[in-house]
Amino acid sequence: MIEEFNNEIGKIESLQELQDLRVKYLGKKGLLTQQLKALGKLAPEERKQAGQSINRDKKQMLAIIDDAKTRLEQKAINAKLAAERVDVSLPAYKLSTGGLHLITKTINKLEDVFRSMGYDVVMGPELEDEFHNFDALNTPKWHPARDLQDTFWTTDGRVLRTHTSPMQVRYMETHKPPFKVVVPGKVFRNEAVDATHEAQFHQLEALVVAERITMADLKGAITEMASALLGKDTKTRLQPSYFPFVEPGAEFAIWWKSPKTGKEEWLELGGCGLVHPNVMKAVGYEGVTGFAFGFGIERLAMVSYGIPDVRYFYQGDMRVLRQFRGEL
Ligand code: PHE
Repeated sequence: MIEEFNNEIGKIESLQELQDLRVKYLGKKGLLTQQLKALGKLAPEERKQAGQSINRDKKQMLAIIDDAKTRLEQKAINAKLAAERVDVSLPAYKLSTGGLHLITKTINKLEDVFRSMGYDVVMGPELEDEFHNFDALNTPKWHPARDLQDTFWTTDGRVLRTHTSPMQVRYMETHKPPFKVVVPGKVFRNEAVDATHEAQFHQLEALVVAERITMADLKGAITEMASALLGKDTKTRLQPSYFPFVEPGAEFAIWWKSPKTGKEEWLELGGCGLVHPNVMKAVGYEGVTGFAFGFGIERLAMVSYGIPDVRYFYQGDMRVLRQFRGEL
């Protein structure tokens, strides 16, 4: 019987077949088990010898089954490994990288420029109170300049800040001069949206307060910023203008070569001036002067990246955004 068993086990290919074979010989009704059961019918002299022989076969079979099991298990693992092998020659999945938004990039660049000039960068709340957005900036309720900025009011009388200038007041309330700060951030205007107007945009505010700060310091700061952004010796210009919270007040422009038209021209950027005495009074400052300026970041980004419509910044159109993915 052992020869027959050996013969069969040689042909076995799987663990299941091995299990079937084990049952066939060694199971409850297995061939070898039947032989053991039949021992009782033998004469006592034969029984002993036959019993020993059957048990020897049984031991042998168990050992052979054990070996076969190890071999088949190894074979199964090898087959699995072969089937699951990674084919490194297959084309890779394309991982598309993200990128910083153009406005974020522009803000980062501006922050770098001002940090290198010794300014701190601070942020302020987008939901403001009337005091900081208007009154403390020398713009009381009756003031006609309130109409210059179309304002989003909340039902509890607060405002979505119409400019970053309220942070001038907040910063002065909590700090002692001398200092230099810039404030980048979102601002909101309740106006009809078109190619150059969005209801939400960004500004950068600068505020410097110390003893004897003058318009010359203001002009110098604006020129330094322009040089850092557009190259050494970039020209800047101030033209008289009006904002309630500065006196004198001005608009500033920088002389640059437009990438769109290829022509050199003045780029009107924002407003500026010396901090108004009434603002100084509102925050309790004495014996110091200061300058402030503020401008729209979208405007700067539009002209420097050649974006023709301000709405492109916020529509999330990948065809627009992807073009600038790698640029700084
Ligand atoms: N806050 C003004 C605006 O939004 C700009 C400005 C800032 C003017 C600082 C003067 C000084 O138009």
